[in-house]
Amino acid sequence: MGDGIGKEVVPEGMRVLDIAGERFGFKLAWTPFPWSCEYYTSTGEMMPKNGLDILKEYEAIFLGAIGYPDVPDHVSLWGLLIPIRRGFQQYVNFRPVKNMRGITSPLRNIEAGKIDFCVVRENNEGEYSTIGGIMYEGTDQEFVVQEAIFTRKGVERIMRFAFDLARKRKRKVTSVTKSNGIVFTMPYWDKIFKRIAKEYEDVKTDQYHVDALAAKFVLHPEEFDVVVGSNLFGDILSDLGPALAGSLGIAPSANLNPDRKFPSMFEPVHGSAPDIAGKRIANPIGQILSGALMIDQLGYLEAARTIEKAVEVAVADRNIRTRDLGGVASTQQMGEAIAELVGTL
Ligand code: IPM
Ligand code: MG
Repeated sequence: MGDGIGKEVVPEGMRVLDIAGERFGFKLAWTPFPWSCEYYTSTGEMMPKNGLDILKEYEAIFLGAIGYPDVPDHVSLWGLLIPIRRGFQQYVNFRPVKNMRGITSPLRNIEAGKIDFCVVRENNEGEYSTIGGIMYEGTDQEFVVQEAIFTRKGVERIMRFAFDLARKRKRKVTSVTKSNGIVFTMPYWDKIFKRIAKEYEDVKTDQYHVDALAAKFVLHPEEFDVVVGSNLFGDILSDLGPALAGSLGIAPSANLNPDRKFPSMFEPVHGSAPDIAGKRIANPIGQILSGALMIDQLGYLEAARTIEKAVEVAVADRNIRTRDLGGVASTQQMGEAIAELVGTL
């Protein structure tokens, strides 16, 4: 599944995962699905009506980016990506951010490894909703309403996930809201955050408004560990974070169904980049590292860590880089270099 550069980076992700499987003793059985904007253009839908029933049978979903200029974004995304995230209760969008060796951060004087946090984004509700509508369209009374949805269950479970994760990391959770401007949902989030925090007294906490947090990300990114936020704030911060770490092209993400009742889905943070699609210059690292998150969730931890290491060695020590990282490697050359290292490191 994928549009634009999605179609170019997914094969590189598969290449690296297959080699990891050979080395670490597992074999992934891939089933490709053509669901995409191209599919929409010929069939009128982004995926078949029973798409979720089909996908339900798989252990995990490996997704390239979705969206292309000839199909409006709200049609393509709400026809494929968002129904999968919601239908499969992938209520966590886990987005780790690290400034790797070999990748230059736009920030001054920041050594490799200094930025190491993750955004835990609520992925099923919040500001992304279909509750609302437009009235008196085309008249001067025209208005439009869109409701944000925050359920107790939804807010509690994303926070518990964030705290449990912090226990395995640096034991700090930062919560982001905007409760000085948005006066119902955001104070509600803050209240639940304080309550859940009491269950985790060994974990440090802090809370920010999103505007101040954006500034702090730039000024002191090293202070963060787990950052938990609503769907929209998590979306924004998970572009800002990787940009600070040096490139959006290398950022992975996991849409997790922690209950494991449904498959989880793994995709890069970047989009389909129509401007460079077809040129074979896209950076496949975001997709490859999403693959590492996928096999991590499937239980192949050593293989996942080896892929992460191979990426760093390829870029920092072997100096193989795509153009966005200042090099000349093609998508495939980058993928092949990482695959080779996964087999030999
Ligand atoms: C992301 C993307 C999507 C989102 C868009 C394409 C709907 O920006 O995965 O971060 O906002 O969830
Ligand atoms: Mg986004």
